[in-house]
Amino acid sequence: METKILSTDEKDINEAGKIIRNGGLVAFPTETVYGLGASALDAFAAKKIYAAKGRPSDNPLIVHICDKNQIEKIAAEIPPSAKTVIDKFMPGPITVILKKKPCIPDDVTAGLDTAAIRFPSHETAQRLIRAAGVPIAAPSANLSGKPSPTKAKHVINDMTGRIDAVIDGGSCAVGVESTIIDFTGEKPVILRPGGVTYEDLKNAGIEAEIDKNILRSIAADEAPKCPGMKYKHYAPNAEVTVVEGEITAVRRKIKELLKGVNGKIAGVMTMDGADYDNAVILSVGSGNKEYAQNLFAALREFDELGAEVVFAEFCDDGGYGLAVKNRLYKAAAQRVIHVGGNE
Ligand code: TXA
Ligand code: MG
Repeated sequence: METKILSTDEKDINEAGKIIRNGGLVAFPTETVYGLGASALDAFAAKKIYAAKGRPSDNPLIVHICDKNQIEKIAAEIPPSAKTVIDKFMPGPITVILKKKPCIPDDVTAGLDTAAIRFPSHETAQRLIRAAGVPIAAPSANLSGKPSPTKAKHVINDMTGRIDAVIDGGSCAVGVESTIIDFTGEKPVILRPGGVTYEDLKNAGIEAEIDKNILRSIAADEAPKCPGMKYKHYAPNAEVTVVEGEITAVRRKIKELLKGVNGKIAGVMTMDGADYDNAVILSVGSGNKEYAQNLFAALREFDELGAEVVFAEFCDDGGYGLAVKNRLYKAAAQRVIHVGGNE
């Protein structure tokens, strides 16, 4: 299959909308990461997404909308706390889980009776959904197990020949996937931390629980609420180790670890350009908001640079820290070293 590269011009967006309406697959930018879209009303098109990504069929897709009125067409119930979140944070980097209506096929929700609904704030994403005339089911546009794409070139590397088109809309501003919050239980539960933080929700009067699985690995026979939690994610070719704590102690520890790499090509992901000898260094910026923006691109770049082991500096400071930590721990398959100070 030839994969077209489209721009954000009116003509190209209309063409992309038509591809989706007719059952095809188009990757598109959002404020979080690139999505791989298909009509959310078309079971056959949803199946194609799983095939293109190599995604396990029990891992449901998020339904993307461009108008809040679409929510009541998809959701069977909208509890008051969900309404607060919808009013306050949509459009934006958040996904709500609600009981679904039958119009959303089982192939989109992997047989669950709930749907994940997201209204992206990215203008191109909104224009595409409008042009398609249907809600768009979209996971992140990476091959299953790879870091999510934050630039069109990441999508092109993973998906060329597998999908109909990619819309090149530049880099994604948030850089990690949306916050997922489940409203189908007694209390709202954060299933995945992202661009809307725990603190943002709290300030809006939402006392959410944080799912215990966010910072641990899940055994093959467990059934977490968010099926995506149990899959290996964001894994670069290199073996990643997170070194977490107060920054001077972190850097001291990484210098020591670099001495023991036995000739392997080593990389360091640094928060504000610290110097290390005998290592490929990629800076992810200062603070966890910038870390979130640059993390996935850096993981892919370490692969291109041939890194065999990567040490990632990390200091948790709340806010975006939880989203970064969740992705880093997964990239590192839970290899985490805590050093003195803040952990
Ligand atoms: O920012 C994002 O959310 C991006 C962009 C493209 O919108 N999308 C994204 O999709 O990250 P994906 O498929 O890579 O991750 C969706 C996660 C999966 O872990 C999946 O298991 C979970 O959402 N999910 C989807 N529907 C669900 C449901 N009904 N109940 C619980 N978890 C659900
Ligand atoms: Mg994904």
